[in-house]
Amino acid sequence: MDQNELKRLVAQKTVEVVFGASDSHIHLGVGTGSTVDQFIEQLEPYRDRIEFAVSSSIRSSKLLQALNIDVVDANSISGVAVYVDGADEVDTSFALTKGGGGAHTQEKIVASIADEFICIVDESKVVKNLGGFPIPVEVIQSALASVAREIKGIGGKAILREGFKTDNGHSILDVHDLLVDDPDQLETTINNLPGVVEVGIFARHRPARVLVGGNDGVYELKK
Ligand code: 5RP
Repeated sequence: MDQNELKRLVAQKTVEVVFGASDSHIHLGVGTGSTVDQFIEQLEPYRDRIEFAVSSSIRSSKLLQALNIDVVDANSISGVAVYVDGADEVDTSFALTKGGGGAHTQEKIVASIADEFICIVDESKVVKNLGGFPIPVEVIQSALASVAREIKGIGGKAILREGFKTDNGHSILDVHDLLVDDPDQLETTINNLPGVVEVGIFARHRPARVLVGGNDGVYELKK
C-alpha cells in the first residue's frame, strides 16, 4: 500500500476508536494535515454525535464546516474529550515532531486542553529518535536572525520556510541536523529563546495513544 492508503486505513480505524467506545455526544479536537484530512472525511456518519469541534487550523475548520460540524474557538470552551492529530515523526516514548504543515502552535494548544490525545500516523513516521525530519519553529519576524543564531549554537541549521506564514501570521524556521536525544529538554530550550512562539516538538504534550497504519493493518504503538 502507498503512504496515502496507509493514512486512509488509520483514519478509518480512528473513527471507530473515537465513536465506537460509547454512543454519547463528544467534544472533538481536530488536528491538521493529510492524515487528518482523511479522518475528517470519515466523520460524516458521526456528525450528529459531535456536539462541537475545536480545530487547529483554518484548513481543518473549513473541512469540518463543509460537513456542517460546529467549529468553536478554543477560548470559548474548557476542553475537549479527544484530540486527533497526525505527526511528522513519533519516537518510541511517544514524543513527536509536528509542524510540517505549519500548524503546530495551534495543535499544541488543542492537545493541551484534551482529555485524550490520539496520534495517527502511517508507519513511515515511527522512528527511534526524532530529528530526521527538520524541526519546525514558529518565530516572530524580528527574532528570525537571533533565533537562527542560537539554534546554530546548539548544533542545528535553521532554514526559513520560504513564502510561508502560519495562521497566526508568523514565519517558520525548519531546523535540520539536530540530534534529539532528550525531546523534553530540547522543547524547553527552544521555547525559551526570545521570539519563539512554539517549537514543533511535542514532549510535554505527548499523545496517550499512537495508532499506526501499516501494510499488515492498523496497530497501536507500544512504549
Ligand atoms: C501539521 C502537522 C501534521 O500533523 C504533520 O505535518 C503530518 O502531516 P501529514 O498527515 O500530512 O503527513 O503537524 O502542522
